[in-house]
Amino acid sequence: MKRKVTKAIFPVAGLGTRFLPATKSIPKEIMTLVDRPLIQYAIDEARAAGITEFIFVTSRGKGALEDYFDNAPVLEAALRRDGKDKLLDILNSTNMESGAIAYIRQHKALGLGHAVWCARRLIGDEPFAVILPDDVIAGEKSCLQQMVEAYEETGGSMVAAMEVPPEKTSSYGILDVADDSERLVSVNKMVEKPAEGTAPSNLAVIGRYILSPDVLENLETIDRGAGGEIQLTDAIAKEIELGRGVHGYRFEGQRFDCGSKAGFLQATVAFALQREELRDEFAQYLSDLTSLPRAAQ
Ligand code: UTP
Repeated sequence: MKRKVTKAIFPVAGLGTRFLPATKSIPKEIMTLVDRPLIQYAIDEARAAGITEFIFVTSRGKGALEDYFDNAPVLEAALRRDGKDKLLDILNSTNMESGAIAYIRQHKALGLGHAVWCARRLIGDEPFAVILPDDVIAGEKSCLQQMVEAYEETGGSMVAAMEVPPEKTSSYGILDVADDSERLVSVNKMVEKPAEGTAPSNLAVIGRYILSPDVLENLETIDRGAGGEIQLTDAIAKEIELGRGVHGYRFEGQRFDCGSKAGFLQATVAFALQREELRDEFAQYLSDLTSLPRAAQ
């Protein structure tokens, strides 16, 4: 079985209801942390992991995403004319090679598993990555790159995993693992959004996967799962039932849940504090802000 992972699916067909009214006309993935859209972080992470083919599963109203990755000749010419080389570099860093991106539509939002299945013909018979752009992971080495390196040893399928507080387990896919102490763990069972008090652990799956093409076959046959949706977790869990290897990988890095308002705001603050040009002034502002209530006491 070929183990080199060169294709990644970016499921971006969800409705993004938690960010209404903004997502009435803007795809969630175009929303920015400081000045870079969420999707740009996801693409950069994939590139760092050696991905060369980028497959977007989109839906109605996501046209801004396609435009974002298109060339912008008028803007480019204006920046060149005005000698704005730094801005030109920033603009060029978003360019994608012709033919490297494909867009497929998910006609009905039937769930993440269904969105991945929509890309099956573009994947064919090779392992592939799935990246959910609303999980943003900051770290020295890209999360997907860490996983690709581990995957070269394991093969099979792999999910990114992290510990979550027990009261949050019902919002995630949760892993049941044999030896819970290692970075790389073999998975015995997976459950999507377990009812409170029934989670087998507090090791949660977050939005990075490397999957065997067999998972696409499983997606053909599984029933709707939690929330009435076709769940990717169920299709991966079926791999375990069929005796094929599934691993969890505890990545190094900090994950922000940018699909939620609180996570998005935390990421905005964290990323702004990383920016040299913003750091001092912004840190001072935050410090003034937090000292206000103390002064009022
Ligand atoms: P979410 O559960 O975050 O749903 O999907 P959502 O629609 O994006 O946002 P909310 O909950 O309404 O605010 C997780 C990922 O799966 C994709 C989403 O685009 C997101 O990247 N997805 C989900 C699909 O592509 N299709 C679906 O049918 C469901």
